[in-house]
Amino acid sequence: MTNVLVVYAHPYDGSFNKAILDRTVETLEKQGAEYKVKDLVSMNFNATMESEDLKAAVTKEYTPEVRREQEDVLWADTIITISPVWFGSVPGFLKGYFDKVFISGFAYNKKGEGLLKDKRVFSLFTFGSADPYIGLTQQYQAIEILWDNIFGMTGFRDIAQQYFTAVPAVSNETRHHYLDQTETFINQIFETQLGDIGRGNARLMTKLAAKGLLNGGVDED
Ligand SMILES: Cc1cc2nc3c(=O)[nH]c(=O)nc-3n(C[C@H](O)[C@H](O)[C@H](O)COP(=O)(O)O)c2cc1C
Repeated sequence: MTNVLVVYAHPYDGSFNKAILDRTVETLEKQGAEYKVKDLVSMNFNATMESEDLKAAVTKEYTPEVRREQEDVLWADTIITISPVWFGSVPGFLKGYFDKVFISGFAYNKKGEGLLKDKRVFSLFTFGSADPYIGLTQQYQAIEILWDNIFGMTGFRDIAQQYFTAVPAVSNETRHHYLDQTETFINQIFETQLGDIGRGNARLMTKLAAKGLLNGGVDED
């Protein structure tokens, strides 16, 4: 059984990110996965690192809010994140979630060893811009470095990304295609084994295609 924690970071229900979330949940249902959805805005998650949160790195006295999230992280073998790219990064409240929940002492130890072993993260990101702008401004690299620093650092075995570009500008047909790609991407959680994707710079579709694990074409970007 695959236990999946979906961390969703968008404030607006009419967004394309919400459509990605809905397709993700449908796909998880079809796969018969156990899953939990964390809608950070609607659950009012306090993403500010308070003094007591930082102290918990030493005392391990986590706030109930953070402890609840940590228990769900331990329960999950796979985390899915869904978020827009804002200023070449993820929304601050998503970064704040990982700053607080993946605190030292819980997610990595003093030696810098990751404690969240044998887990996978599959992330979907939307961009307002298109290529070549995104490439020229190194936004893919920025995301991949950030994800390696969060998830590689804390011990994750697989770090996979799916990017959707020019979201506000594309046709409805392309949006439907993006949602189909979402389903293909989520299905890879069930069609690959732990360790198949690897850490960092994981252009999933390209890597899977190179290993002969994809029947369709490679991702367009
Ligand atoms: C504060 C802010 C910063 C943004 N920065 C970027 C950016 O750096 N790169 C980019 O491609 N799009 C950027 N965008 C555009 C969003 O990524 C885009 O509108 C979103 O991904 C579309 O999906 P949505 O309809 O679900 O919001 C930014 C949007 C906002 C609100």
